Amino acid sequence: MQQIGIGLAGLGTVGGGVYKHLTKNRILLMERLGLELVVRKIAVRDPSKTRDVPAPPALITRNWRDLVDDPLIQIVVELMGGIETALELVLSAIQKGKIVVTGNKALLAEHGQEIFLAATKYKVPVFFEAAAAGGVPIIKSIREAFIGNHIQSIHGIINGTSNYILTRMAASGMGFKEALAEAQQLGFAEADPSLDVNGWDAAHKAIILASLAYGFWVGTDKIYVEGIEEITADDIRFAGELGYCVKLLAIIKADEKSEIEIRVHPTLIPRSHVLASVNGVFNAVAVRGDVVGETLFYGRGAGQDPTSSAVMSDLAEAAVAIECPRRSYGFTPHGLYGTCKPIDDVVSQYYLRIAVVDKPGVLAQVAGILGEEDIGISSVIQPESQEGESVPLVLMIHYATNTQMQKALGRIARLSSVKRPPRMIRVEMLVAS
Ligand code: HSE
Repeated sequence: MQQIGIGLAGLGTVGGGVYKHLTKNRILLMERLGLELVVRKIAVRDPSKTRDVPAPPALITRNWRDLVDDPLIQIVVELMGGIETALELVLSAIQKGKIVVTGNKALLAEHGQEIFLAATKYKVPVFFEAAAAGGVPIIKSIREAFIGNHIQSIHGIINGTSNYILTRMAASGMGFKEALAEAQQLGFAEADPSLDVNGWDAAHKAIILASLAYGFWVGTDKIYVEGIEEITADDIRFAGELGYCVKLLAIIKADEKSEIEIRVHPTLIPRSHVLASVNGVFNAVAVRGDVVGETLFYGRGAGQDPTSSAVMSDLAEAAVAIECPRRSYGFTPHGLYGTCKPIDDVVSQYYLRIAVVDKPGVLAQVAGILGEEDIGISSVIQPESQEGESVPLVLMIHYATNTQMQKALGRIARLSSVKRPPRMIRVEMLVAS
């Protein structure tokens, strides 16, 4: 049987998983592909390191250039992480005509344009299923299954760590720091969880999904990002009293003028929507197309096995691409879209929590400012909660732009009866039709 040579850069959690599962499912892959995938070299930073997945020492090299220079390697798999060396490896592999498979979301979000320009120039495909939502096949679905659709919207819970934290805060009433510590203890959070909780891990994935959906590589300066660090157990409880739960949601939409909204932030979604029941470390992505309507993908977005599954599917596609050259190199730019809406112009609904002195007339002052700024209130509650000298006033706001809201919140914050800067969380109604 014809052999396809693979060079693996990185033998950490995902690289080790890929090596393990390629070995375990070798026969299945051979039967399905009619080709044999053979790992010929593995580049690691520290060959002396003890690893969960042992690989034959004869395959190990410290120098990633050995993969690119080996004529028997046709596919280079970048699973080393980081940006600079990974970019050098990917571009060198493309220049040498070797197909690239990568799961590096930060690399693609920051350098996707450059990488796909090189891929097109050298006619070398780049595959990246593992770069968004781990084992959930969302990249192939957007690129292939929905090729005949205008994508109207994508709503994704695409960071498992933050979803775990919010789920635990909702279930137990614990605070953000306590829930994060629990996630770290259980091995769900990275040693440095900052990209998970500040929204940027989800943002990198959202940039990839939006770029595929709309045919232009979205710059990192075009996405609005807010993390979950400021979400309190009270916010989650008050949202629950109003019929919502809080999720870190990636929202990608095109309007009728083909302008794109792309944002990641904590979001109130109705408890009745299916995304509200995506709990713990699970990911889910809802895609709406003009032909297909509403679709939903669910699964594990991280971890050795789900991510390895995604890399293996790319390897299989890459192996077939060697046999049958293709016209698409992983990302096909087109000119149907291209403008991103600034967050200030984005229209949304909102949850507001304002710490106020408990005295007559305060609600009227707040409502007066909102009215003057042409912002409608859909409901108000004053839930039971002790906040020192103040009480919480929670308002649900009808559609308004970010500019309108910032102006109103600035004025509300200056009222003497308001004790802290108001807390604003966007609301996404997510009505399936
Ligand atoms: N740390 C990420 C998550 C997985 O929690 O979903 C890698 O992107």
